[in-house]
Amino acid sequence: MHIAVVGSGYVGLVTGACLSDFGMDVTCVDKDEKKIAMLQRGEVPIYEPGLDGLIAKNAKAGRLRFTTNVAEAVERALAIFIAVGTPPREDGSADLSYVIEVAETIAAHLNGYKVVVTKSTVPIGTGQLIEQIIREKSGGRFPFSVVSNPEFLREGSAIEDFMRPDRVVIGARDPQAIAIMKDIYAPLYLIETPFVITNVESAELIKYASNAFLATKITFINEVAILCEKLGADVHHVAKGMGLDRRIGPKFLHPGPGYGGSCFPKDTRALTDIARQAGYRFGIVETVVEVNEKIKARMVDKIRTACGGSVSGLTVGVLGLAFKPETDDMRESPAIPIVTALVKEGARVRAFDPAAMDNAKEVLPATVEYCQDAYDAATGAHCLVIITEWNQFRSLDLERLKGLLARPLVVDLRNVYEPDKMREAGFAYECVGRAA
Ligand code: UGA
Repeated sequence: MHIAVVGSGYVGLVTGACLSDFGMDVTCVDKDEKKIAMLQRGEVPIYEPGLDGLIAKNAKAGRLRFTTNVAEAVERALAIFIAVGTPPREDGSADLSYVIEVAETIAAHLNGYKVVVTKSTVPIGTGQLIEQIIREKSGGRFPFSVVSNPEFLREGSAIEDFMRPDRVVIGARDPQAIAIMKDIYAPLYLIETPFVITNVESAELIKYASNAFLATKITFINEVAILCEKLGADVHHVAKGMGLDRRIGPKFLHPGPGYGGSCFPKDTRALTDIARQAGYRFGIVETVVEVNEKIKARMVDKIRTACGGSVSGLTVGVLGLAFKPETDDMRESPAIPIVTALVKEGARVRAFDPAAMDNAKEVLPATVEYCQDAYDAATGAHCLVIITEWNQFRSLDLERLKGLLARPLVVDLRNVYEPDKMREAGFAYECVGRAA
């Protein structure tokens, strides 16, 4: 089966590479000529473990190609996946102009029955809008179906999430389109992946509701962590005790400096906007958005207090800048407000991240110094702050670290280390939600 994936960003590339690995004949399209030229040369413009190998393998097998020629790709395909960006507007609502542009292009090149699949996270009702655009612009010349098939990929483990998903959600009315979608995902039937077949609106809402729920879970444990600090409890034990209840589940109960990334902040805001437009104030999610901002600000208070009330004139070493490990993505990373506040309050910041430093330079204050490794960032620092839990920060040589720091103070915003061990090793140690 011929498939076109329009938009060769993160979602598009992962989808294209994985579908070609399922045996589909896939053309990935993007209007960015530089990006397509890179991909044609075998270079992958984003950092995602395993993606370059998968692209190389399937490109070599002739099942995966890259082009800027959207017309040709659309004409050839039976299924067209829309995987273009839906960036947030000023007011938090999703900007659909790229999706609309693709729908218009599809309409212009419709040459037979096609299934148009939205992969991008789109507001509820977008499926209908796409259908309307294609119907009007194509003049009803050919039949087509619109399907919502939201992705649930996590950066850093996107390939695994695609190949072994917890579920596949397919929102469609037309039985022919549902049958085609099932064909495309046939390898997942073999591993008994549950399929949720529903209408387009429900599928669109599943995506937002899932992300907002996960963001709520994280925010909930972040607030429990605050209580733990005040009451002498240990948030790890509380989270474990809660998570063993199967109705709650153990995942996404790890406290930290607030959720970030390209999805949770955008999707929580968009869902509150969607709800308001539907005439309802989605109170829980609005509060989650608000509390997450407070959590980030609270991390700055924590560092300031650990430093004796002020960071002015001090050197702060920062380990990890990306919004989470195994990615170079700085979008909405908690490191941005934290480092920016430290610099504003007069600290000299020396930072290290294994992958995100190039992107960090674009969004962090110009005075931030970028280091060779964790030890370099610690050298001469009065306080060492762990913001992202990269594996390489989990087993640092503590003796060496102590020797390099101007003051043996570690503020661990991801609870990478055990408080007792750090204190035994001679550090003043602060973490999240684990009272001494
Ligand atoms: C998230 C969802 O997990 C995916 O299912 C979804 O497909 C994706 O958004 C999307 O909508 O495209 P992602 O943003 O890549 O994936 O990253 P997560 O691993 O979910 O982490 C998001 C944020 O929450 C990070 O800042 C992370 O540090 C934080 N987090 C996560 C915690 O603070 N505690 C946790 O227990 C888990």
